Parts: sequence; C-alpha cells; structure tokens
Amino acid sequence: MTDDTPTYSGPERVFSGVQPTGDLHLGNYLGALVKFVAMQESHDCIFCVVDLHAITVPQDPGQLASKTREIAAAFMAAGIDPERAIIFAQSAVPAHVELAWYFNCIARMGWLERMTQFKDKAGKDRERASVGLFDYPVLQAADILAYKATHVPVGEDQKQHLELTRDIADRFNRDFAVPGFFPLPDPLAEGPGARIMSLKDGSKKMSKSDLSDLSRINLIDDADTISKKLRKAKTDPAPIPDTAEGLEGRPEVDNLVNIYATLSGLETGQVLERFAGEGFGVFKPALAELAVEKLSPVTQKMRELMDDPGEIDRILAEGAAKAEAIATPVMEEVRQIMGFWRA
Ligand code: AMP
Ligand code: TRP
Repeated sequence: MTDDTPTYSGPERVFSGVQPTGDLHLGNYLGALVKFVAMQESHDCIFCVVDLHAITVPQDPGQLASKTREIAAAFMAAGIDPERAIIFAQSAVPAHVELAWYFNCIARMGWLERMTQFKDKAGKDRERASVGLFDYPVLQAADILAYKATHVPVGEDQKQHLELTRDIADRFNRDFAVPGFFPLPDPLAEGPGARIMSLKDGSKKMSKSDLSDLSRINLIDDADTISKKLRKAKTDPAPIPDTAEGLEGRPEVDNLVNIYATLSGLETGQVLERFAGEGFGVFKPALAELAVEKLSPVTQKMRELMDDPGEIDRILAEGAAKAEAIATPVMEEVRQIMGFWRA
C-alpha cells in the first residue's frame, strides 16, 4: 500500500520541558540539559519550565515561582543562551491550556491508560490521583504542538509520551482532514545520557522523587557530598572488567561506568581500558573528581544567576512574549480548523 498523504513540511523546531519540582539531578543534566545545549547550535529551540505539569501533584504555592526561576537558571548555567533559544514558563502562555483541552477531546482513554508513568506515579491508589496526573501527557502534546515542534530532546522515560504526542497529531490531521498540519515530532531520546540509573539500585532510574537522597547526585551538591554519595553507591566485589560484556548482570557498575563515559565524552570501551582490573577504591574517587569538575561550574553559575531574580524574570518575560508570538498563529489556525465561532 502506498501512502501519499502530505506530511508536515514546515520549519524544524526543538521543544522540551523540565518540571520545577525537586532539585535537578545528574539524570536531568545528562539526559536533558546537555542535549538542549547541543541543539541550540543547529536549531531554533524553545525550552519551557513546565509549571502546569508540576501541579498534577500538590505544590507549595509559596515555592512554585522560585522553583521556576531555579530551573530557568539551571538552563542558562548549563549553557543555554537566552539570546538564541527561548526560555519561558509554561503558565505564562495560555495556548498550552487551550490546546490541551482540544486534544483532550481527540485523545482516547485507552491511549492514556497505557501510560506507564501514570501507573508509576499514581501507585496503588489510582482513585486518589488527580485527573491532571492522568491527563499529563495530553498537556505535554499541547506543549510541543502549539509550536509545531519537530524534535524533542528528552530522557528515555519520555519516549512513550512522545508516541502519544504523535498519535494525537496524526489523529488531528486525519479527523479534520488537514494532512501535514501538525508535524509528528521525533523524540531525541537516545545516547549515553538518556537513562541514568539510581546509585542505590541499578534497575531504577535516578529520580527526583526517590526518597533516598543517596540515590542521586543533585546539581546543587557540593564536592564533599558528591564524593560521599559515590563512595556509598552500590557496587559489587569484582573489579572493573576489561570488556563491555563484563558489565552484563552488573547494573550498578554498568551505570557508574556509563556516567563516567557520558561526563568525560569517552566511549565505554575507553573507560574500561583505563580502569580495567581496578577496584572501586580507585574508580569511585576518579568518578567523583570528574563529576565535581563537570558539575561545579554549572552549580556556581546557577547560584550567581539565582542572586539576581529580577534578571531571570526579565528573561522569562521576554521568552514568554517570543513563545506566544509563535503559538498565536498556530492557535488561530487550530480554532478555524475545528470550526469555532468567531465574529
Ligand atoms: P523531569 O525532572 O521529570 O521534568 O525530567 C526532565 C528531563 O530529564 C526529561 O527529559 C527526562 O526524560 C530527563 N530525565 C529525568 N530523569 C532522568 C534519568 N534518570 N536519566 C536520563 N534522563 C532523565
Ligand atoms: N513530561 C516531561 C518530564 O517529566 C516534562 C515535559 C512537559 C516535556 N512537557 C514537555 C518534555 C514537552 C518534552 C516536551 O520530564
């Protein structure tokens, strides 16, 4: 069967979001921020602090705005240049909420019921989860498609949400007979930083919501804390192997070697070559030194930026205006396609 339905042919655009909840950790840094910085070299980029997603679980209203500034500061400290990329807060652009409602009427219950993140976050007590938590991926689709974004750099845990975004875009294009109106965005969820695991359990991802702070390295941790957490990281008695096969069945060791490789920019094989036969008494301090070397300039910059919240607010306001200017014409087209009344 041939399919000659026109596909999206507009400009390429990158969109991604990070929630202003908890402290950013090494997984966020390597899985998202480092990729964002790389993308701004080649693409028009929009990076959003997704405060509307944050409220799917209770947040302290007194903290939400400062948490939002903190993520904006982390974006810039990691190397995102607000002159080149747009940085803004999701709640400042109403298009997200409006498009999410339209998409609510397009997405099917069955599609959302398959989402593993909801199952993980709602836990056993589904009845008490907010409707917003269930609907979270629909808002995410609206975030991306309000800008007709074509590429979405994220960690591996977001792949399923990106599939849903594609399903919604495709369904909209078909239901309203507007082939190629919305792009079917590509997740950029590959590469060595896409899945950083907990320091305490190599089968769980490093996460803001893990109860144990020892499970993750936070961007704001100082050198001593980073060394301590790595010293306490779970390993096994065997030394570092000399081949990648030797990492099989050793998820915690695999994770530490992967973190070393990602931070240093080396291949796994090169890291193994360097440390083969060594015990963790040698490897862990080397990894701590590398982590401190890479993270401390980012932390330092983040602190400096946080000292001037007025400047962050100025950047967020400018970003919101630029984002809105892109979303407004898209939303006008969407309303017209869907047939809403206008005088
Ligand atoms: P969140 O903190 O859930 O808003 O996530 C922000 C970004 O970090 C998303 O692109 C996630 O996919 C990514 N991310 C979160 N945890 C990890 C992890 N352990 N490894 C790699 N990427 C991650
Ligand atoms: N769901 C993402 C996360 O938890 C955050 C997010 C919200 C996002 N909207 C987005 C990521 C749009 C990419 C694109 O990490």
